[in-house]
Amino acid sequence: MRKPILAGNWKMNKTPAEAVEFVRALIPLVTPYPQVETVVCAPFVALPAVAAALKDVPIGVGAQNCHWADNGAYTGEVSPAMLKGLAGYVIIGHSERRQYFAETDEGVNKKIKATLAHGLVPIVCVGEDLTQNEAGITEPWVSGQVRAAFAGISADQARGVVVAYEPIWAIGTGKTATSEVANRICGAVVRGALAEIYGEEVAQAIRIQYGGSANEKNIGELMAMPDIDGALIGGASLKTDAFAAMVRITAETN
Ligand code: PGA
Repeated sequence: MRKPILAGNWKMNKTPAEAVEFVRALIPLVTPYPQVETVVCAPFVALPAVAAALKDVPIGVGAQNCHWADNGAYTGEVSPAMLKGLAGYVIIGHSERRQYFAETDEGVNKKIKATLAHGLVPIVCVGEDLTQNEAGITEPWVSGQVRAAFAGISADQARGVVVAYEPIWAIGTGKTATSEVANRICGAVVRGALAEIYGEEVAQAIRIQYGGSANEKNIGELMAMPDIDGALIGGASLKTDAFAAMVRITAETN
């Protein structure tokens, strides 16, 4: 049984003070649902304040990126070693990082290895853009991204990775993949690729989220799908009420 995981991706939003105000309001709304793993992925500068506000509270804290090296001459970067103690999760290879910051499959793979080496849970993003979707190459594209992301990662390590399938055309657009399509890509394509690499038992243990305009209206339908184990949530995670409603609906659906 895979525990559902809902992660809010705040992107470049919320100052440290706003972040603390937000999580304080969130605590009473989501802690009644321990059957859902709830995570907030805050900007780096808000992590210390958020981590302090959530000390001893069962809400996970995540970063939105990291470098693969422990330290060194990488101006402006943050290493997984620096995140330890502040965050338990790191979003890796989000499509906005691939698109605007030229992240490659190779870099994503190095970052996953680095986060795992430091005991952090990587939330690895994959997904096709509109052109690829319309060209009918979603399946080979997504399975290729999964293979590249997991290259050289052992079966034991792979069990602790979370994959987020996020069709790029659905991110921030208000368009979502239908729950059937989302389930097919999460299941047949992402879990299918993982099964080819690691075997069915390991693939069944790995959690796969859907992301892309997930909100309180569609989360119930998405979470009812057998291969969707959670969601990576952008816009709707910025509002306590919407995000908390998604956690509650997920708890009620599973
Ligand atoms: P969205 O973003 O929910 O605003 O579409 C999802 C994401 O980018 O992770």
